[in-house]
Amino acid sequence: MSIVNAPKGVMEYLPPDSAGFTQVRDALLAPALSAGYSYAETPVFEHTELFVRGVGQSTDVVSKEMFTFEDRGGRSLTLRPELTAGVMRAVIEHGLDRGQLPVKLATSGQCFRAERPQAGRGRQFSQVNIEAIGVDDPALDAEVIALADEGFRRLGLQDYSLHLTSLGDADCRPAYRERLVEFLDTIDLDDATRERAKINPLRVLDDKRDDIQRQLVDAPLMLDHLSEVSAAHFAEVRQHLDALGIKYQIDPRLVRGLDYYTKTTFEFIHNGLGSQSAVGGGGRYDGLMAELGGQPLSGIGWGLGIDRTLLACRAEGLPVGDQPRVDVYLVPLGEAARAKCVLLAAQLRGVGVRVDIAYGGKGIKASMKGADRSGARHALILGERDIEAGVVQVKDMASGEQQEWALEHVVPHLRGISSGALEQGDLS
Ligand code: HAM
Repeated sequence: MSIVNAPKGVMEYLPPDSAGFTQVRDALLAPALSAGYSYAETPVFEHTELFVRGVGQSTDVVSKEMFTFEDRGGRSLTLRPELTAGVMRAVIEHGLDRGQLPVKLATSGQCFRAERPQAGRGRQFSQVNIEAIGVDDPALDAEVIALADEGFRRLGLQDYSLHLTSLGDADCRPAYRERLVEFLDTIDLDDATRERAKINPLRVLDDKRDDIQRQLVDAPLMLDHLSEVSAAHFAEVRQHLDALGIKYQIDPRLVRGLDYYTKTTFEFIHNGLGSQSAVGGGGRYDGLMAELGGQPLSGIGWGLGIDRTLLACRAEGLPVGDQPRVDVYLVPLGEAARAKCVLLAAQLRGVGVRVDIAYGGKGIKASMKGADRSGARHALILGERDIEAGVVQVKDMASGEQQEWALEHVVPHLRGISSGALEQGDLS
């Protein structure tokens, strides 16, 4: 171990990659913010029991992957492995569900799972997450799915697909579960898998081992055993998605890594990512809120992986995060010019222009290198003589052309220059 190496598996973003990270995060969040979702910031750690009850004991996330520790008062705390349980806890604690429904919340931040790190899979990773709580309406399911799809499309992604299924409800799940348990009794499973099956038999369907998958070919599927209510709900979700022109694949074997799902359940899979291909997933959860001690309200939401979405953008060759750092680079030559540039930078920033300055009293050559690296469209070069004449030399960095402007025209001329960069995707 070396203290200058970050712990294994943490996703860290430094320039220039960090611009891609914030662009992806903002693009995934933006559709929800324009659909009435309010931003919520929830804590990074919660009581361990919240995740055990919320996410479910049979999941890998809870049984193998939690970063759990005791605080100084001997309480068991856990770094959040996902965002939904914390959002639900906050809704119950602060009574947000006593107002108008659905409660629509968007959040974003780091999550922690002690998984084996590999490309696209980290121990610290980031999600954008939305939840719409308190209304069980198939149109809302379609909205939630459409908002994820819109986020991916805003980034320019194309090579992904939406996998969709229904996991039924309290009326049909128990009978299906019994059938599945009966079926699992007839096949060859090791003791550990049998134990897990006792807590949640559905989880066995997600077992990645070939010998298990071969034995599961004839396993009963939830989708064939839906109650009338769940079947009608699922049919309506599909109708809305069809009307919205959102393509999906029905995937009756889709099993999510978290136990709370009922009815509509989905995952977005990107084709350029190898084994860690899920860029997002979510679904409806009828029982979660009551399980955590709240009202028996249904909800639906998703979590989209920022890290994997950024990798997906790179896999498709999309220019995320490529926009320049600043619009204008100021090059002062001499003491008086430097003082003037400090003021000019403040004025320009005040009207929304992104500005950097060549600090440190460097010569023109080194300063122009800095201008080049900054990606600025214009370098403004100011010498002592320019100040006396009330002018500045303005270099167009793309064409190399140089013009002289009156100093008093700089702010009015450059106001609004940033809007081009904003259009290219800087949504922050
Ligand atoms: P999830 O499928 O466990 O769902 O995670 C959502 C997304 O987070 C995944 O599709 C993936 O892109 C990303 N992700 C998960 N684990 C890792 C990892 N170790 N490294 C990198 N990225 C990862 C949830 O977390 C649910 N809370 C989503 C939800 C919200 N369901 C309803 N509401």
